[in-house]
Amino acid sequence: MPGSDLVLIVDYGSQYTQLIARTVRELRVYCEVVPPWVSAEQVREKAPRALILSGGPASVGDADAPQIQGEILDLGIPVLGICYGQQVLVRHLGGTVEAAGEREYGPAELRVADARDPLLEGVPAASTVWMSHGDRVTALPEDFRSLATSENSPFAAIRHDSRPLYGIQFHPEVSHTQAGRRLLENFLFRVAGLRGTWTMEEFIDRTLGLLRERIGAGQVICGVSGGVDSTVVATLLHRAIGSQLHCIMIDNGLLRLGEVAEVQRMFGKGLGIPLECVDASAEFLERLVGVEDPEKKRVSIGHAFVEVFERAAARYADAGFLAQGTLYPDVIESVSVWGPYATIKTHHNVGGLPEKMRMEVVEPLRELFKDEVREVADRLGIPKEIWGRHPFPGPGLAIRVVGEVTPERLDVVRRADRIVIGEIREAGWYERLWQAFAVYLPVRSVGVMGDARSYEHAICVRCVTSRDAMTADWAEIPHALLARISNRIINEVPGINRVVYDISTKPPSTVEWE
Ligand code: XMP
Repeated sequence: MPGSDLVLIVDYGSQYTQLIARTVRELRVYCEVVPPWVSAEQVREKAPRALILSGGPASVGDADAPQIQGEILDLGIPVLGICYGQQVLVRHLGGTVEAAGEREYGPAELRVADARDPLLEGVPAASTVWMSHGDRVTALPEDFRSLATSENSPFAAIRHDSRPLYGIQFHPEVSHTQAGRRLLENFLFRVAGLRGTWTMEEFIDRTLGLLRERIGAGQVICGVSGGVDSTVVATLLHRAIGSQLHCIMIDNGLLRLGEVAEVQRMFGKGLGIPLECVDASAEFLERLVGVEDPEKKRVSIGHAFVEVFERAAARYADAGFLAQGTLYPDVIESVSVWGPYATIKTHHNVGGLPEKMRMEVVEPLRELFKDEVREVADRLGIPKEIWGRHPFPGPGLAIRVVGEVTPERLDVVRRADRIVIGEIREAGWYERLWQAFAVYLPVRSVGVMGDARSYEHAICVRCVTSRDAMTADWAEIPHALLARISNRIINEVPGINRVVYDISTKPPSTVEWE
């Protein structure tokens, strides 16, 4: 982002890379994640004020292990290598990294040897840090010295004598590392001389300017779902270009009870942004007849979406831009060492549209994490009922009906969902959860209702906590709340005689059932 101090995070494939990025952003420093093959020339062009080398699962001595492009270290930019990042740094500069014999995973005690170094200012003499590594540094490169030790390593934190090159063996980005945030703060503010000036106001001002400049007198089409991302995109564009924006909402028949009307109200009355609604539910449902396979469901919905949207947009023949609510995690995943996460599940809310429609894509939220989007929404004056809403997947309730999606099953899952959300809100739990919803399970089991035997289907209740949906934990909501939800669903939703609670974490499960 031009105008901001930039930190680059080189991603060696650690599960924590996004966490590093988020922590840096929380310290109000703008950062971007780049792959390990980034060249010195590319780095120079981006002119970052600091570099962080992430951890990673490889062994730095292996033939195909990702390294650091040599000249990057000669650019005079302060560097902090974390875990594998430290090993890359050390090996590159002539030190030795060896297999530790045993993998060290979990808490360790960090003992500070040089409390005067800016990196360790305010870090207690002894504190707990989180380790996760198989290899370790056994000999330092020339002109390096140790700043801190742990039981298993004399080189838990190291630095070059005169250049701002640092390495640490542990993970400062995880919450188990007590002084982790302090250490990152020290690196950014004391070593690299940054100031925490990245704010959402600044983001909004600059984005409005950039949008106006790029779009000029052009026309923009924006698909709207009622979720926070597309609402923020639409609001930013509406502010930037007013009536040159055309918002379209597709009712795919897979939305929650009363959702279309709600979104219409929110746009029309609430935000004052004109919204065109296209009822295409019959078309979508028709495509889903007989489809049981989750991936096929997603693909059918994706294709239907592209067709319907294309038809709806055809009326704005002059529109040269298509706005999308892409967020930074999607961008990072597509550059990561591991390739796009989309290979696990096809996320295709508007996938395929831009190429087909030959439009330029506008993605004003490309740089932001979800919590930053929420902050932007708040700053834009979007009411909390909107920006505080739980995420809702593009393929909608189709991935919350296991097996074939039918109108009857959708009706059941809608009613159950309404009860889950109603009770969760009532109990004051809504804001503590990342998502809460009902899933229709096409499994029949026996029960007794009144005096009669019943043989009906089941609803699964899923409530998870998460920061970014990359990982998620099932929420320990009170038993009394679960009891109320279960009672109400069994009593009020015809065709359901059993309610179960999902106690799986992600990974290895996912949030949605499909
Ligand atoms: P999973 O099930 O992959 O979900 O753990 C992670 C998060 O992504 C949401 N999700 C989707 N969102 N289009 C979306 O916009 C999709 O196709 C899609 N599939 C899953 C899910 O609700 C959770 O928040």
